[in-house]
Amino acid sequence: LKKHREGNLTAKDETYQRIRISTLRGDQEIPFDVFLQIAGKHILYIRKGDNFDGVRLKRLKDRATHHIFISTTAEPEYKKYLRYNTELAYKSSLGKPIEVRAQIIQGLQQAATEEVLENPNDQLRYEIFKEDTRKYLEFLLREEKALKCILNLDHGSPSVAHHGVNVASLACSLAIELGEKDANKLQLLTIGALLHDIEHFYSGLNVARPPTEFNSDEKATYHKHPDLGAHRLQNNNFYDQIVLKIILQHHEQINGNGFPGGSREKDIDNFALIVAVADAFDRKITFENVEPKDSIKRMMLDMVGLLPLPLIQGLSQLLKRREIV
Ligand SMILES: [Fe+2]
Ligand SMILES: [Fe+2]
Repeated sequence: LKKHREGNLTAKDETYQRIRISTLRGDQEIPFDVFLQIAGKHILYIRKGDNFDGVRLKRLKDRATHHIFISTTAEPEYKKYLRYNTELAYKSSLGKPIEVRAQIIQGLQQAATEEVLENPNDQLRYEIFKEDTRKYLEFLLREEKALKCILNLDHGSPSVAHHGVNVASLACSLAIELGEKDANKLQLLTIGALLHDIEHFYSGLNVARPPTEFNSDEKATYHKHPDLGAHRLQNNNFYDQIVLKIILQHHEQINGNGFPGGSREKDIDNFALIVAVADAFDRKITFENVEPKDSIKRMMLDMVGLLPLPLIQGLSQLLKRREIV
């Protein structure tokens, strides 16, 4: 924080509301004050009308500060800002470049995913998330360049929700590539992929490094995440079975060497395998800082025999055609 802002503590009787960083844009004025919470106090970070330039936004994301605050009285301004951005992003006719639209839409989808990761028992939030996901999917299908723009976005400090959005974008693009046309099924695949690592959100395990570096306790925690994640959701009857299956089976491998079940190919859901392929590719990018072209190369070497070859090849072709690798 800059020195001159440090003295700017706010009045005691002001109340604050948490908002998500991924809903803010780096390229325009912020029409409300933004606060950080430090040592229990709310400190002004961005003054209303200031330009929240890309560097400051990135610094905030790098701090792993996923939560920032606005004054409760600024809530109408914040909602207006969200509505304006959503409209701007989803209407291609408004003439904003695809890169800007992709950044806004990715941010909104990441925020919607974080809402459900944090509140998995809240049915209303889940319904809103499903609707957001449908719109996200339409954008991804309509815009040939969207996938590349989404994958190109800087993720700041590694985030399970950011990884979820990448995996979902890849998985549903791959499913379409392989001939899936049913919009409802694609929506469920996307939801499963967005939530697949929900347990990482709770386990406290630092997943942002290669699993080969985990010690034995960490490995044990890691191996439990598909099972615990599915369990976390399955008491709520509003989650679709396929969503739970994707979470449960996304680390299974066709030769029976995966976890948690050690299932064979015939017993693994095809959507779970699609997510497994997308996940293996993006884990290296989001959590291990590997370049996309190196990640797909490694998959061709390491994952053949563990995941279905047509899916790995399908992903490779998709990435090439979209000029991602
Ligand atoms: Fe996982
Ligand atoms: Fe994952």
